[in-house]
Amino acid sequence: MEKLAGEKFFIRTFGCQMNVHDSEQLATIMTEAGYERTGDEGAAAVILVNTCSIRDKVAQKIVSQLGRYRTRKIKNPGLIIGVGGCLAQHWGREIFKRAPHVDLVFGTHVLHEVPELVGRVKNGYRMVMDTAFREDIPSLDICAAVTNGNGRLNLQAFVTIMQGCDNFCAYCVVPYLRGRERSRPAAAIIREIEALVGRGVREVTLLGQNVNSYGRGLAEETSFPALLEKINAIPGLERIRFTTSHPKDLSDGLISCFGRLEKLCEHIHLPFQAGANRVLERMNRGYTREEYLSRIEMLRKRCPDIAVTADVMVGFPGETETDFEATLTLMEAVRFDGLFSFMYSEREGTQALSFADKVPEQEKRRRLMILQALQDRHTLEKNRALIGKPVSVLVEGASKNDRREMTGRTRTNKIVNFAGSGDLRGQTVSLCITAAYLHSLRGEPRKEGKADVYRNEDRRADH
Ligand code: SAH
Ligand code: SF4
Ligand code: F3S
Repeated sequence: MEKLAGEKFFIRTFGCQMNVHDSEQLATIMTEAGYERTGDEGAAAVILVNTCSIRDKVAQKIVSQLGRYRTRKIKNPGLIIGVGGCLAQHWGREIFKRAPHVDLVFGTHVLHEVPELVGRVKNGYRMVMDTAFREDIPSLDICAAVTNGNGRLNLQAFVTIMQGCDNFCAYCVVPYLRGRERSRPAAAIIREIEALVGRGVREVTLLGQNVNSYGRGLAEETSFPALLEKINAIPGLERIRFTTSHPKDLSDGLISCFGRLEKLCEHIHLPFQAGANRVLERMNRGYTREEYLSRIEMLRKRCPDIAVTADVMVGFPGETETDFEATLTLMEAVRFDGLFSFMYSEREGTQALSFADKVPEQEKRRRLMILQALQDRHTLEKNRALIGKPVSVLVEGASKNDRREMTGRTRTNKIVNFAGSGDLRGQTVSLCITAAYLHSLRGEPRKEGKADVYRNEDRRADH
């Protein structure tokens, strides 16, 4: 493989947190192969686009982005453009047809091979492609760099605990693009987190399409709650988050971890997708509205202050006005802290593609607007309820909007801005919430003067 020391690469990422993490691992692979990462696209000799195929709109955005790279390539014919990730896995050679200036297409299982594939392009090969699925995915074990684009240490890190998905929800492309579900051995995960903590990381987010089924298929007898117990015991780690949980696999064992494992943050992201049972069934989700609501009730009984967020979509084929209203009444019943909402998007290869009774685009848009207006009311209501309450905030750094302000997150994953100095970065401070908005909170130190460093004993009582 040809190595050009210092040759610069740039990565652009679309899609979910898993893809963001894949990009960090890809950057580590490229750096180890002798390339140098740049945040300046114009200075790059290699541009890698890590893509997503979850909805048509995302795919269209990526196609436009690739179109813009054509001009760059005309100006600089030596520029190498590689397209990887889920859309590359989905479309394969089609990418070369839609964007003939692309040199390289790589799938979701072959990140470790990218330097070699780039090398092939340099040696004169055209339309280089590898989208094969692998039994083992070597890049899963790569401990991604913990510094951001500016060389600054990150306090948070993602850690993959499982890959792929076996759920085959009727609307979803992920199982076809990420392959079969497989869990990483606990020892490898623990080792990775210990290494991250050693490099200054304080908070980890465990990643998987369906983290509750962690352990299935592993030689060792284990489960997601058992993994959480082990991670909770890692010295120096302060916070644990995870995403995404599937309601059908949310066990009592996992619910009992909240409030018991002191590092596990009081937040769960639990997509519900729809509120009507006939829609949930057609989606192949594996739970009913009543089961979903009873899981939420159990969670709140166990941990009254837990923040609950979810994903939902409108306009799934056959969704009637009554079905849509059932989604709204579920929202009223739960009162989510936040919601990611989408219009159903037809995806090639999925079961729902063949379903009749498609909902017109305009109607989907109308439903989405009604749903989002309701959620905004709930989000604001939830945030306002925190006014006057104490929260512990892991300080991430200066606020983007006002450099004199510091910003951080509560254990419930809400952004809090407060007046403070840069030396608080990396500390966990105790603040009192003084104002609440749709997307953030304002706080002030609970005691006079400098915010006191948050103590371990306080943790359970706070948010
Ligand atoms: N594995 C996770 C989510 C993966 S995709 C889970 O099961 O919850 C993230 C979200 O995108 C989904 O929760 C769903 O709400 C949305 N989504 C997936 N496919 C979609 C489609 N075809 N149209 C619209 N939204 C979709
Ligand atoms: Fe897609 Fe369903 Fe798997 Fe989530 S659980 S990735 S929505 S198939
Ligand atoms: Fe993620 Fe998009 Fe793939 S949501 S798993 S990058 S299709």
